[in-house]
Parts: sequence; structure tokens; C-alpha cells
Amino acid sequence: MSTASVVQQNRDYTLTSWSAQGSWNPIVFDHAEGVYLWDSEGKRYIDWSAQLVNVNIGHSHPHVVKAIQDQVAKLTYVQPSHATEVRGRLGEMIAEVTPGDLTKTFFTLGGADAIENAMKIARLYTGKDKILTRYKSYHGGTFAAATAGGDPRRLGIEPGVPWIVRLPDPYAYRSPIYSGRTQEEGDLIVAELIEEIVLQEGPKQCAAILLEGYSGSSGIMQPSAVFWSRIQEIVNRYDMVLIVDEVMSGWGRTGEWFGIEHYADVKPDILVTAKGLTSGYVPLGATVVTDKIAAFFNDHVLQGGLTYSAHTLACAAAIANIEVYRSENLIERSRELGKVLRRGLMDLAEKHPVIGDVRGTGLHQVIELVKNRTTREPLSPFNAPFTEPMQKINKTFKEHGLSTLVRWNYVFSTPPLIITEEQIQEGLAILDAALEQADPYYQG
Ligand SMILES: Cc1ncc(COP(=O)(O)O)c(C=O)c1O
Repeated sequence: MSTASVVQQNRDYTLTSWSAQGSWNPIVFDHAEGVYLWDSEGKRYIDWSAQLVNVNIGHSHPHVVKAIQDQVAKLTYVQPSHATEVRGRLGEMIAEVTPGDLTKTFFTLGGADAIENAMKIARLYTGKDKILTRYKSYHGGTFAAATAGGDPRRLGIEPGVPWIVRLPDPYAYRSPIYSGRTQEEGDLIVAELIEEIVLQEGPKQCAAILLEGYSGSSGIMQPSAVFWSRIQEIVNRYDMVLIVDEVMSGWGRTGEWFGIEHYADVKPDILVTAKGLTSGYVPLGATVVTDKIAAFFNDHVLQGGLTYSAHTLACAAAIANIEVYRSENLIERSRELGKVLRRGLMDLAEKHPVIGDVRGTGLHQVIELVKNRTTREPLSPFNAPFTEPMQKINKTFKEHGLSTLVRWNYVFSTPPLIITEEQIQEGLAILDAALEQADPYYQG
């Protein structure tokens, strides 16, 4: 089948996400290995975003491929009230690698439904209604999860569910709260505002604060440790639970098993994860709770279920993934190669004044592009179509064979954790060529 026919058939018979369908003009991918993808014409692309920041162990890893093949030949599916060896084994492995007292997992199909179940569990457990979340956050595309994320992806379904309350962001680069203040000073003020919001909303109505363990697709705006310590205090003081979303920031992405581990004082009551749990080989999500919350459900019904909860293929894929994270030291690797990536991005920032800010850690970084470093005017406006320079950047990526996430004026660098130093330099060279296209638009 010709490439054009494949595109046509996809357009004729399928719908795509987050887009007006008429503008969908996809690349047809044929196969992938490691950090590379090949399109149907044989052109190679470096996967600079690990797709949707999920293919952490890289494409076609033989250990995971074999685990899935072995499992499919043995037992493909049983309904979720039955037990299987892979389900129990995976639950135990998740308890081993997650922080604090997190011990029991409810399995879902991906991030959004794991968030839905986390919110449901928090509401059932506390007997309270409201869930507090950040504006600059994303928690999934289903109805309540989309309301929870303050990111503009919620706008199509507004007003959404009525029990979400949104919180200000620790966005040091742009929030006026930080003007003339250090990151820590600004973070403390944002945390004070959050406590004030809890008081205004009524602590007896507030069930949980839900935050990404390490900020992701909204632009990697991450606070300092003082913010998280204050959030933990607020949660404790008002008998709320802390739900930490590690869908994107889990599994070594930031150089720790989970992003929240950058903050020693924080103890999630519920941790939600997906993406790197299976690196996308089979869909799987997980809502992990503490002993205390799990004990509550010993004599209260856990009101929830999914036909494909704890699917055996997904469990087998996740076990094999965790084995790869361990045997290939991918968590440490992300931490170390993150330093190489950061150095490279800082070098690019010296050369290209359009880079206004570089944020993130490990293999989880973003550059924010501006027209002017003093005014910080974005090179492409928030929540609006790409301006000409961003279109040129995207075109250069495609021409030079680099696939990554670009949103508004952000360009993400979140490659698979198996990337080598040489491959990082290869990606950075393409970023350099793309930024050259944007340089003439700088108004310094
Ligand atoms: C932080 C975060 N939470 C939740 C989700 C939703 O996950 P899924 O797309 O698997 O439903 C995402 C997806 O990007 C995410 O980044």
C-alpha cells in the first residue's frame, strides 16, 4: 500500500486526538528500534520525546517483546476478579519501587482512568468532595480527569465536573508572584495562597490535593522543596489526602524512580502512574495506595472496575520493563545523561537568544522560546496556533528526522532513557539547526 493510501485510509476511517480532523496530515511510521523510528519511505527519525514521554526503555526491547510473547501463548486474559501470577508479582514490584508506604495497586488501562480511580478513592476514603489541582497541569482526557487538569485541553468539555478547584502555579519564569523574589520566596507565597484557597473552599469539603510529582506537558514548571513541604503540611492539617500524578514523571524520567522523590519530606497517599510502567508496549495504568487507605477498603466497597484491569499481557510487559530499568540502571542513566542534555541545551541558549528558559532535570527537559529575553514575550502565544517561527522549527525537525513534542513556545527534550551520549549530540545538532530558523525573529 502506498504511503498516500495509508494516510488516506487513516483519515477516511479513523479520528485523531486534540485536532480539527481536516488539518490532520500524519507521518506514516513503519517500524522502530531503540531511539529510532522509520517511516514508510525508509526515512529515519530520532525519537526525541519517547513518543508521548512514555517509551522510556526505547522501542522493540527484546526482553519485553519476549515477555509479552511468552504471556500471550500461556494466558492472554482472565477477568479481574481472578488472580494471576503476573498480577501479584507486578503489584509486589510496584510496592518495592514506589516511595513511602504505598503498597496496593488498582490496575487500569492508562493514566486518565488511573486518575479517575485515584479521585474516586480519595473521595470515598475521606468522605469529602473537592479535589484541588494546578492550572498548569494535565491529568488525562476522560471527563473528570480532563476537568482536573487545568491545561487548555479541558476547555472543550467545560464546565466539566463541579468538584474540582484549581490552584495557582509555581511558575517562576512568568508568574508575577515571583517578580523580584527568589524561587523559594515565590513558592512559599503560592503555597500560602493554596492554604487560603483550602480555607475558602472549606477544609471539611476538601478531599485531596492532586499534583504532578514533576510537572510535565504543561511546561515542566517545578517548584522547590519548600513548596512541597508546605503542601504536605496543608494536607496533614486539614485531613486531606495527597494524590501524586507520576504518569509522566515516573519510571526514571527525571533521574529518580518517581519525580516526587526529589522532595524528601513528601509522602503520597495515592500515587498514580502509567506510561513508562510498560513503556507503551501494552496499555496499563496503576493507582497505588498506602496500607492505611487499602485497609479502609477491607470493609468498604471499592466502587470501580474495568474489564481489562490487570490484563495479563500488560502485567507481563510491566514486569519485564521494571527488570530492564533495574538491569540497565536506567534511573541512574537518566540522571547522568540529563546533565549532558542540560549542558547541551545551555550551550544552545548561549548561541540562540530565542531560548528564554531551560527547565527540568534528568531526561525530562524543555526550552521556552521568546521574542525577547527582557520582555519574555513568547515566540508563539499560549493556547494559539503556531506562529511562523514555530512552524519553521517544526518543519526543520521533520526534514532533519527528529520527532518531538512542541507546544506553543515550548520544545520538549524527553528521549528514551536508553539514549547514548552520541545520540544526544545528534538530537542537539538538529535542535541547533531548527533554532537557526527562529533566530531572525528575535527582537533583542
Ligand atoms: C501527568 C499526566 N497524567 C495523566 C495523563 C493521562 O494519561 P493517559 O493519556 O495514559 O490517559 C498524562 C498523559 O500525558 C500525563 O502526562
